[in-house]
Amino acid sequence: MTSILGISAFYHDSAAAILVDGEIVAAAQEERFTRIKHDFSFPKHAVAYCLEEAGLTPEQLDYVVFYDKPLLKFDRLLETYLAYAPKGLQSFMMAMPLWMKTKLHLPREIRKALDGRYRKAIAFTGHHESHAASTFFPSRFEEAAILTIDGVGEWDTAAIAHGRGNKLRMLKSLHFPHSLGLLYSAVTYFCGFKVNSGEYKLMGLAPYGEPRYADVMLENLVDLKDDGSLAMDMRYFNYCEGLTMTGPEFDRLFGGPPRNAESRITQREMDLAASVQRVIEQAMLRMARTARKLTGSRNLCLAGGVALNCVANGKLLRAGIFDDVFVTPASGDAGGALGAALFVNYQLLDRPRQSNGTDTLQGSFLGPRYSNSEIRRILDEQRAPYTVFEQEGDLLACLTEEMVAGKVIGWFHGRMEFGPRALGARSIIGDARNPQMQSQMNLRIKFRESFRPFAPCVLLEDVDKYFELDRESPYMLLVADVRKELRSPLTDEQLCMMKDPDLRKRVNVPRSTIPAVTHVDMSARIQTVDAERHGRFYRLMKEFKRRTGCGVIINTSFNIRGEPIVCTPQDAYRCFMASEMDVLVLEDCLLRRTEQPQQSTEDRKNYIESFQLD
Ligand SMILES: [Fe+2]
Repeated sequence: MTSILGISAFYHDSAAAILVDGEIVAAAQEERFTRIKHDFSFPKHAVAYCLEEAGLTPEQLDYVVFYDKPLLKFDRLLETYLAYAPKGLQSFMMAMPLWMKTKLHLPREIRKALDGRYRKAIAFTGHHESHAASTFFPSRFEEAAILTIDGVGEWDTAAIAHGRGNKLRMLKSLHFPHSLGLLYSAVTYFCGFKVNSGEYKLMGLAPYGEPRYADVMLENLVDLKDDGSLAMDMRYFNYCEGLTMTGPEFDRLFGGPPRNAESRITQREMDLAASVQRVIEQAMLRMARTARKLTGSRNLCLAGGVALNCVANGKLLRAGIFDDVFVTPASGDAGGALGAALFVNYQLLDRPRQSNGTDTLQGSFLGPRYSNSEIRRILDEQRAPYTVFEQEGDLLACLTEEMVAGKVIGWFHGRMEFGPRALGARSIIGDARNPQMQSQMNLRIKFRESFRPFAPCVLLEDVDKYFELDRESPYMLLVADVRKELRSPLTDEQLCMMKDPDLRKRVNVPRSTIPAVTHVDMSARIQTVDAERHGRFYRLMKEFKRRTGCGVIINTSFNIRGEPIVCTPQDAYRCFMASEMDVLVLEDCLLRRTEQPQQSTEDRKNYIESFQLD
């Protein structure tokens, strides 16, 4: 037996993953256990969980591998500092304590975290090697081009590789400070969102804007070459030497300082979002063409933080450069833990790899699960009234009725998802046909005034009936348009509302027969649900369709704003009580809000305010 523990940590989204004889046994992000979103500390809880799931002790592990090379990263930090000295002194000094205390002594830190019980070697894989491995090795392809794009690893900010069988070969890379990820993060920062977590909002904002700054960006900020490589003009950016992403030159170019996080979103931010989205898409298409040329492959695997840009992924797929595209669900640095372990397994140990037409990520359901008896014990402790459904069919029929009645359901079933999206294990769900559902969920459940619509879950067999998509998207990483015949023509009054400077007005104009999941530009971030990967969640959707004729529901992550997705039944119950979800399902147990004890407004307020806006 060969067991490999992969770890990513100290940048953002720490995680651990474990392989036993090549099989992915478990993977989880540290934030889910510590309840600190994007927690970057050493993932000791995630490691402990992975060992427990595999039934192993630290001394039984054969290999421990870290997802990047800290000494090379330090080298980049030092060299960048020296190139800009003395300007970057403050940010350099701020970074130093963590490096001195932990990052430069990783083997020691890793051994300490494993209670001194792991005595074998610790391996380090390259950052982009980890990303590449995280998407190619578990993919359904025997052979594929691999494109990884992120902010920055050690020195690399993007890479092209070629995977075949149980090996991958790195072919080409782009170097810091020239980075598509950092360009996107810079605009995220400038628009008043948090770097490394608000990027998703920027993507959601783009359809409200016009790309009227795209040329300005391409003429000034970034020189995008035909092969997709790029050179950024560092006069506009501050991330090499400062504590911010952009500098005064950037302000001058876009007519004023960055947006304050608390202030209203204006047309400028919407247009900036649309513009940088266009630049990202152009660059990704060019990189993809280069990857095609270099590898001759018909398949593409994507990873790295930028691969979470599902709008760009959708465009890439439709561009037809590749016949098929796979995007790994944990594309960000959390997925590096899994990639590092896979890299050791295949690349270094030369273990055989079979690709049998489906990916090996098991729907990304790689985290903890809880039994009915555990859940009942927890609920009894909380003195929470609940009903147990012995028959699954009864539970699903009951939930369907609640959804049809406009109720919002907290759905907790099976193993928690690995990666940033809730995919039907820790989800909040509702009726996508209900025109009020989007604002209801935003205001009553998530406590945010969001311009983002929710993502649809669609039965795999129905995907092309609702969307301009002809294939699976089990990890919610492809965006496609709602089919024309489902779109609603807008009245004059609605057309007027769509031009309102106040985004909140525009959000509520229904655009299709599934309004809660249709964005202003008629697009949707699709998750396909199938019998094999999704089990009970699939059967729930089948029941909903039997009752309503509709194969689509809303799916959003089970959390409130700023909160990591719930992990345990306790997390789920707390979130349920603090928000205004109507029904909570924990495996076979169903709880109704109306039957729960009253919670003080004070308690709820404290809970909601304990999470920061991102
Ligand atoms: Fe990365």
